[in-house]
Amino acid sequence: MDSSRYPDQVAALLDQAAYPRNAHYALAALQDVRAAFGHVPAEAVPVIAERMGMPASAVEGLMRDSAQFSGKPAAHQLRICQGAVCIGKGGSELLDEMRRAFAKRPGLQVVAGHCLGQCTQAPAASLDGRIMAPADAESLRRWVTPGG
Ligand code: FES
Repeated sequence: MDSSRYPDQVAALLDQAAYPRNAHYALAALQDVRAAFGHVPAEAVPVIAERMGMPASAVEGLMRDSAQFSGKPAAHQLRICQGAVCIGKGGSELLDEMRRAFAKRPGLQVVAGHCLGQCTQAPAASLDGRIMAPADAESLRRWVTPGG
């Protein structure tokens, strides 16, 4: 594929998805791009950043934080739903707090995720595929650190 056409192709993909100009949709945009291209080309980053109204460094940070883009999953993954309902119930703040709380925990990666199908009990989270909803910072700390 001709990489010089990536920016136009990514822009067309995002036009089709019609995401609002909001950083909370950047993960969904990255997943769409990965699904279409098989990876996220570097040329896609500034396009997504512009569309979502966020710095390119923030898009790159999102990619670094997410095992689905790095290809190097940690032993354990705490996924905090960033779907619209969970965002409305504090999911974004919960993600930030969990990233701070577990920044230095070896083998644990805190990542943003799509809707976990638990919207009525938002905000939702999952640890290695097991779901907790509603989730709050204290419950997640105990869940990740049994007895801690
Ligand atoms: S939006 Fe979070 S579980 Fe549906």
